[in-house]
Amino acid sequence: MKKAFEPAELLHEAVNALNRAYAPYSKYRVGAALLTSDGCIFHGCNIENASYGLTVCAERVAVYSAIAAGHKKFKALAIVASGKKTPSPCGACRQVLAEFCKPDFPIYFASAKNLRAVKRLTISKLLPEMFKL
Ligand code: THU
Repeated sequence: MKKAFEPAELLHEAVNALNRAYAPYSKYRVGAALLTSDGCIFHGCNIENASYGLTVCAERVAVYSAIAAGHKKFKALAIVASGKKTPSPCGACRQVLAEFCKPDFPIYFASAKNLRAVKRLTISKLLPEMFKL
């Protein structure tokens, strides 16, 4: 039987990803861990660029890595960030998640400074009336 997933474990995976962030400009480090329905975990971190607009968010790196590896079914996402405030995915990442995830897809987010103060929201709550073709 497949082990039920623990949000706390996924948040720790997101912290591992945050430690690989490349954020010399904002100094704001973000990590994401995306759990696939078959139990794989894909990591993402923010990767900044001297040409600021080329920066990519941790969430999109995680989603695109999973897609590139052939995974399209996802169970949950955890996001952590280095600031004190609980992070929340940007609008662009919400739209990318909405492309691949069911409305009730859960997203857990926490500050890396306090993993126990975790927030849980679904993608439909984060992006109501999402754009779909
Ligand atoms: N960032 C993310 O990685 N995810 C988000 O959802 C919001 C913002 C990153 C991009 C940039 O490297 C830094 O946070 C500051 O905006």
